[in-house]
Amino acid sequence: MSTLVIVGSQWGDEGKGKITDMLAARAGLVVRYQGGNNAGHTVVVDGLEFKLHLIPSGILYPDTISVIAGGVVVDPAVLLEEVAGLNKRNIDTRGLRVSQSAHVIMPYHKLLDSLEEETRGDGKLGTTCRGIGPAYTDKVHRCGIRISDLLEPETFKARLASVLKDKNIILQRVYEHDPLSFNDVYDSYTLLADKLRPYVTDTTQLIMDANKADRNILFEGAQGTLLDIDMGTYPFVTSSHPIAGGACLGTGVGPTDIDSVVGITKAYTTRVGEGPFPVELSDDTGDKLREAGHEYGTTTGRPRRCGWADTVMLRYAAAVNGLTSLAVTKLDVLTGLDEIKICTAYRYRDTVIEKFPERLDVLAECEPIYEILPGWREDITGAVTLEDLPVAARMYVERLEELSGVPSSIISVGPARAQTIVSKRLPASFQA
Ligand code: GDP
Ligand code: IMO
Ligand code: MG
Repeated sequence: MSTLVIVGSQWGDEGKGKITDMLAARAGLVVRYQGGNNAGHTVVVDGLEFKLHLIPSGILYPDTISVIAGGVVVDPAVLLEEVAGLNKRNIDTRGLRVSQSAHVIMPYHKLLDSLEEETRGDGKLGTTCRGIGPAYTDKVHRCGIRISDLLEPETFKARLASVLKDKNIILQRVYEHDPLSFNDVYDSYTLLADKLRPYVTDTTQLIMDANKADRNILFEGAQGTLLDIDMGTYPFVTSSHPIAGGACLGTGVGPTDIDSVVGITKAYTTRVGEGPFPVELSDDTGDKLREAGHEYGTTTGRPRRCGWADTVMLRYAAAVNGLTSLAVTKLDVLTGLDEIKICTAYRYRDTVIEKFPERLDVLAECEPIYEILPGWREDITGAVTLEDLPVAARMYVERLEELSGVPSSIISVGPARAQTIVSKRLPASFQA
């Protein structure tokens, strides 16, 4: 049995949900370790589409335990709506467990996220306005409210009274906004707390026990490497640790207990929100990729910015996450193109650089240097083995592997579970 981290190797939306759902068939536990409902993971099963924001993409299997660990920030209303939505579709959610240490997204977090974005004007980050940044800010500032606090009426009352006093001063004096009413927030969150209570537990212990019992554990990352607060394109990042190391921080699992790290890698690149994006295509090809790949945000509906695959960034993601293999997704979206480009290096002023620059001002000036590969026209959405792929598609994947320095263990050729080619490089315990 083994532990496997699913991590986005780009800027999010790589297809983590699909791959997690597919591998969850063999997992005892599927654990979300960071982020919140800024995530949007779409899973397609038997032609039915499920959009998950907070609940791990293992929930569609009745016998799998789905854990929202302490590193996640939880909007209780969103979580309960998601549960109700799944129940309505006859999905059993009794396997859901929520950490008592997870921080709670409060109404002032959502309000401040929007007000801060408005104030930034042209310098906006393009956040999802779900309160994620402000909730993590309070966690680090040590004035957050955890689920365990929310479940104890007297503790919650005292903490909320103290925090809300400060937040209302900021709302009124900085943003000239009406204050929030203590009673409204207290009453509505107390009601939510009662509904949440049955799912809440010590998930750190639960994960430790599962590890000791040698069960397969899948850690489902949200967002992607370049959105990591430390390793991403700061400040155009999210406020948590989407990288593989985040699985340790957010759950309590030690780094030596992680067996493999699969980098979910879209066959091209997308980004939602602001920030430098060297391979961005602001032309017809970018529009074609957006339409063919249905590249519109699952959470906010915003059109995703599209570009070719960027192996400068992938080499960086490979190192930062310690990737053991890649899962190349949406290869089918490239079908029908005459030629396909791969970015192999950047041109920065009059130099060629092959390493991802640490400085954002340098990245913003980088121009991609491309290698051109032939395209293919055959429909690949029914491919089951590597041999079913046209030579040009295989060559493309091989080149991605060579340039990133990481072999692939999975190739995805469509949104459905079956539209997946799995190689022997996937750990044996996760093979079907
Ligand atoms: P995530 O945030 O990383 O889970 O990715 P999203 O769910 O936001 O975006 C990926 C989208 O691509 C979803 O709509 C998936 O159903 C879809 N998808 C995943 N893998 C494939 C694939 O191999 N081919 C195609 N055509 N769609 C895919
Ligand atoms: P999944 O899990 C793509 C982006 C936002 C914005 C930045 C900060 O579906 O891959 P935030 O609301 O987190 O403070 O916004 O991060 N972002 C994502 N982009 N996929 C996601 O999640 C994202 N979650 C946040 O667009 O640029
Ligand atoms: Mg997504």
